Order: sequence, then C-alpha cells, then structure tokens
Amino acid sequence: MKGANPLDLVRDESSLLSFKKVCFSWPNGKKVLNKCSFSIPKPGLWMLLGANGSGKSTLFKIISGMLQPDSGEISCKLKPSLMFQNPDHQLLMPSCRSDLLLSLPRNLKLQDRLKRIKEALKQVDLEDLESRPIHTLSGGQKQRLALAGALVSDATLLLLDEPTALLDPISQKIVLQTVQRLCRSTSNPITALWITHRLEELEFCDGAARMEEGQIGPWLSGYLQIKRLNLLAGRRV
Ligand SMILES: Nc1ncnc2c1ncn2[C@@H]1O[C@H](COP(=O)(O)OP(=O)(O)O)[C@@H](O)[C@H]1O
Ligand SMILES: [Mg+2]
Repeated sequence: MKGANPLDLVRDESSLLSFKKVCFSWPNGKKVLNKCSFSIPKPGLWMLLGANGSGKSTLFKIISGMLQPDSGEISCKLKPSLMFQNPDHQLLMPSCRSDLLLSLPRNLKLQDRLKRIKEALKQVDLEDLESRPIHTLSGGQKQRLALAGALVSDATLLLLDEPTALLDPISQKIVLQTVQRLCRSTSNPITALWITHRLEELEFCDGAARMEEGQIGPWLSGYLQIKRLNLLAGRRV
C-alpha cells in the first residue's frame, strides 16, 4: 500500500457510500461514469471538483436514486437529500414553518412536527425566522432553510450541488460553516458531498476529490488539492 492515501484505506464494507466500477451513459450514448469507484469512509464535509460537463450533477442523480447505473455496484447506508444551486427551485411554501412541515413524516403528531421544526431551524441558526415569509429571506438564509428541510426529513447525506454559487462571500461563508458544523456534530454527525468550483471553499472540507474522464480521483486534504490544482493551472484551467 506504499503511497496510498490514508483516507482510502478504510475497508469498503464499512464505508457510508461506495461505488464499485459504476458505469452510466445517457440514452444518447454520452458516457458519464466509466468504471467509477470511490467511497466515503466516514461522516464529514467531502468536496468534489471537476470541469463543467465532467458528470458531477449526474453522479448526484445516481446517488439519490433518480437515475439507475448501467452496471457496477453501489452501496449507500445513508439517506440522501439533494440541494441545488438555486434554493427557489426547492422551497415551495409561503413561510419557513409551512415549507418545513412539508418535509416532515406525515405520521408525526402536529406538536412533534412543530418541535422538530424548531430544532432544525436552531441547527441552521434561523430560530427567529419560523413564521417569516420565504420571499423576505436572503439567498444564504434560503439555503440554510433548505438545509433545515433536509434535516427534518431525517436525511443523513446532503448532496450539495454548488450551493454557494449564487451567494455573496459573507452568506457563502455562513452556509459553509453551518454545513461544517452539522458534519462535525459530536452527537449525530451528518455526511455532506459538496460540489464546488471555488478553491477557497476547500479549506473547510475533510477531503476533496476530482472528477475527470468518468472517474473520481483519491480524497486529498483541501490544502493538497489546492496545491495540486495550482500546479495544474499552468497547463489547464
Ligand atoms: N438529461 C440529460 N440528457 C443527456 N445528456 C445529459 C443530460 N444531463 C447532462 N447530460 C450530459 O452529461 C454530461 C455530464 O453533465 P453534468 O453531470 O451536468 O456535468 P457537471 O455537473 O459536472 O457540469 C454532459 O456531457 C452533459 O451534457
Ligand atoms: Mg453540474
């Protein structure tokens, strides 16, 4: 195992999510995953980089079960929840409370549902905004509300597809810190897979990998990945 990355040494059976030689092509023949193998060893904030069109969003659709792979093996011990670049695409109801009510299991008593909503809003630092109309929230607050929606639905794997692309730098940092805190919670840490183009976000991650030619490279620390990308930048953007 000389030269192997310690993050990849965890045995597959214990991984929270693992892909083994997964292939996927769109019906028009476009191959997106080509014997793609990778795993997420433990809860944390894992970031995924890659050029436009390299297949990152398609990968998320496969992990969330929206698309079926053509071949290979996928094991996922977590409950996934997709979060998009534009929160307006997933917030449906007029107020924070009513939107979260929609994400809660129907069999819970109303009192318990309201309790869960309060807890989730607290986890994303929105506890004062329970009855706020959604259209009055900032972009960053909307993303944190979408996070609360994932939490109340008992999701344990957040699939975040460039969640800060439309945010100003301050909101970007608050969303990053919120997800990082949820992933590092001592009692119930969640797992996040975060697609980004912004190198400055890598300093918040527990590991970062690059998607290229239908495959995902090894997890490196954010620092090493930045160093590697800066070296590559001389040859390609
Ligand atoms: N619904 C679709 N039908 C056919 N091809 C698609 C569809 N969605 C994406 N693609 C193609 O799949 C490839 C990967 O796209 P995508 O997963 O969106 O990449 P990324 O998110 O890394 O930019 C691209 O060549 C894209 O054109
Ligand atoms: Mg994409």
